[in-house]
Amino acid sequence: MGDVDGIDDALSTTGFDRTGQAEAFDSIGDRYDEAFPHKEGQIASGQWLADSLPTGSLVLDLGCGTGQPTARQLVDAGHRVVGVDLSSEMIRLARANVPEAQFHQVDIVDLEDLREGPFDGMAAFFSLLMLNRDEIPDILELLRRQLVENGLLALSMVEADVNDLAIPFLGNTIRVSGYLREDLHQVIEEAGFEILGEDSYTYAPLSSDIPPEIQLFLHCRRRR
Ligand SMILES: C[S@@+](CC[C@H](N)C(=O)[O-])C[C@H]1O[C@@H](n2cnc3c(N)ncnc32)[C@H](O)[C@@H]1O
Repeated sequence: MGDVDGIDDALSTTGFDRTGQAEAFDSIGDRYDEAFPHKEGQIASGQWLADSLPTGSLVLDLGCGTGQPTARQLVDAGHRVVGVDLSSEMIRLARANVPEAQFHQVDIVDLEDLREGPFDGMAAFFSLLMLNRDEIPDILELLRRQLVENGLLALSMVEADVNDLAIPFLGNTIRVSGYLREDLHQVIEEAGFEILGEDSYTYAPLSSDIPPEIQLFLHCRRRR
C-alpha cells in the first residue's frame, strides 16, 4: 500500500487548503493523548461499533491519530483495522501502538485510493471537524459509498457553529469546523445515513489552551 501513502501538497485533491493541518499533528504527536486522557465517550462509541459488527469485520479508522484508543480497541475486539491520517507522525505512532492494523498516510478525501474497501464499519472520531464545512457533505457521501450496505459509522464532532476557524491547539494552530446538533443530524441524514443513536459529553481537556467543549457521538448506518 506504500503507493497511496504520502501527502505533499497544501491543497487537498478536491482543492481545500490543508496548510498546517498535518504539520500541527506531526508536532503534537502523542501529546494529543496526554491532553485528552479521559475518552469515555470515544471508548463507549468505539465499543458500540466493535460489538455491533461480526468478529473479523473490516473497519476503517478515519483520522486515526495515535491509534489509541480506537484502532487498538477494534483490533482487540477481533476486527481487521485500516487507519488513515494526514500526519506522518500520527501514522508512525499508530503503527507502533497497533502493529496488527494497517495504516496509511492518506487524506480522507482520497479514500477511494485505498485498496482495502469497501468497509463493514468506520470510526471518524474528531477527524471530520478538521475539514472545511463546504466539503463535509461530499465526504460523508464518500464514506457512505465506501461502506457495505447497512455498514456502520461511529462519528464524533464538537458541537459548534463554525467553519474553518483557526484555533490555538497544544502550541499549534489548527483549523476546525462544526455544527449545532440539529444541523449535524441533517448533514448526516442527507448523505444517506440513518442515525441509530447519540450520546453527548461535556469535556474539559487538561490543556489550558483548549476550552471545555460539548462532544457529540453519533451511531449511524448506511441507508442506501
Ligand atoms: C483531533 S485528532 C483525532 C484523532 C483520533 N481520531 C482520536 O479521536 O483519538 C484529528 C486527527 O485527524 C487527522 N486529520 C486531520 N485532517 C485530516 C484529513 N484531511 N485526512 C486524514 N486525517 C486528517 C489529524 O492528523 C489528527 O490525527
